[in-house]
Amino acid sequence: MDIINLLIFLIPSYIANSSPVILGGGIPLDLMKNFSNQRILGDGKTVRGFIGGTLAGTVAGGIVAIYYSLPYFFDAKTQFLAGFIMSFGTLVGDALGSFIKRRFNVESGKPFFLDAIMFLLVALLFAYPVVSEGIYTPLDLAFMIGLTLLVHPLSNIIANKAGLKKVPW
Ligand code: CTP
Ligand code: MG
Repeated sequence: MDIINLLIFLIPSYIANSSPVILGGGIPLDLMKNFSNQRILGDGKTVRGFIGGTLAGTVAGGIVAIYYSLPYFFDAKTQFLAGFIMSFGTLVGDALGSFIKRRFNVESGKPFFLDAIMFLLVALLFAYPVVSEGIYTPLDLAFMIGLTLLVHPLSNIIANKAGLKKVPW
């Protein structure tokens, strides 16, 4: 397990997941439509947040790919592509988490156990076809999941203190 490489590998996903707090707002992704008496996704998932987050993560991954080549990828182009795929996967996972949350009647903005991890699981799933075979191991996966479960609540507390988020979760 190479912690530095894993941390760098996670940059696009973490940027994609956190930037919508700043970049989001406006038209909700579900266009205010309902599904079984609840919003499909809710006001917390916006078109701008989805696109902005995907782009921010992709740009971050692109900059990283210029300066640092990760061993998980065949070449810099694949690494750049993976940054996009992981950023997109992050926003898809985030929206999927909200979809599930609404089905459990949890209001937008209220905490839910999937908040901290759904984005990463979908990002890793999406990235799977572009990583070199067998290069991230069960231990690597456990590290990335564990780290995210720790970092997510901490970063929310910091974002709340910094005035970026109304609630500390
Ligand atoms: N955000 C956005 N678009 C997205 C994701 C997030 O605009 N696709 C913004 C919203 O302003 C959102 C904030 O980032 O309120 C925090 O994101 P998150 O905690 O994921 O959303 P919640 O408001 O908690 O909504 P939910 O309960 O659906 O997770
Ligand atoms: Mg939230």
